[in-house]
Amino acid sequence: MRSACLMIIATTFCVAIGSVSSQPKLPSLDLAFFVRRVEPIFLEKRLSHTRCYVCHVESNNAFRLEKLAPGSKSWTDEQSRRNFETVSILVNPGDPATSRLLLHPLAPEAGGDVFHSGGRQFASKADPAWKTLAAWVNGAKLDAPGK
Ligand code: HEC
Repeated sequence: MRSACLMIIATTFCVAIGSVSSQPKLPSLDLAFFVRRVEPIFLEKRLSHTRCYVCHVESNNAFRLEKLAPGSKSWTDEQSRRNFETVSILVNPGDPATSRLLLHPLAPEAGGDVFHSGGRQFASKADPAWKTLAAWVNGAKLDAPGK
């Protein structure tokens, strides 16, 4: 009986220690930042490159964007939420350097993946669009719409 009690105390103590010394909390991905800053990157034309959207709308790879309504230049709230869920799976919050969304379209000499059918959309990590994607992955927030 006594040893069972000690076991329980020891276990509780270890669990408490474990939660104190666990990894720092990962940043959470912000939907508002995604809608206002990240989604436009998927739609915008970059010099000598095809837009992400052209190849990734309803694509059969993991980066699959919702189809815009005819004549519409942006996604509905519901579509954006679905895009957010799809794209969130392609990133590691707090770690842009290992996030597929950022590595796949990045030039290999800048640390990107060797091959992407969509080309080397970002020549380096200094590309403003790449930096915006990285900021989102690092948990950048937009509090109010229109910011
Ligand atoms: C010319 C067409 C084309 C364009 C433009 C394009 N892609 Fe791609 N992308 C592909 C194809 C095809 C694949 C799947 C085969 C491969 O990995 O190359 C792919 C794969 C990916 C993947 C990996 C998906 C998976 O299944 O793991 C990511 C992430 C990605 N693209 C991001 C982007 C981003 C971000 C842009 C715009 C900055 C972009 N792509 C533009 C054709 C394109």
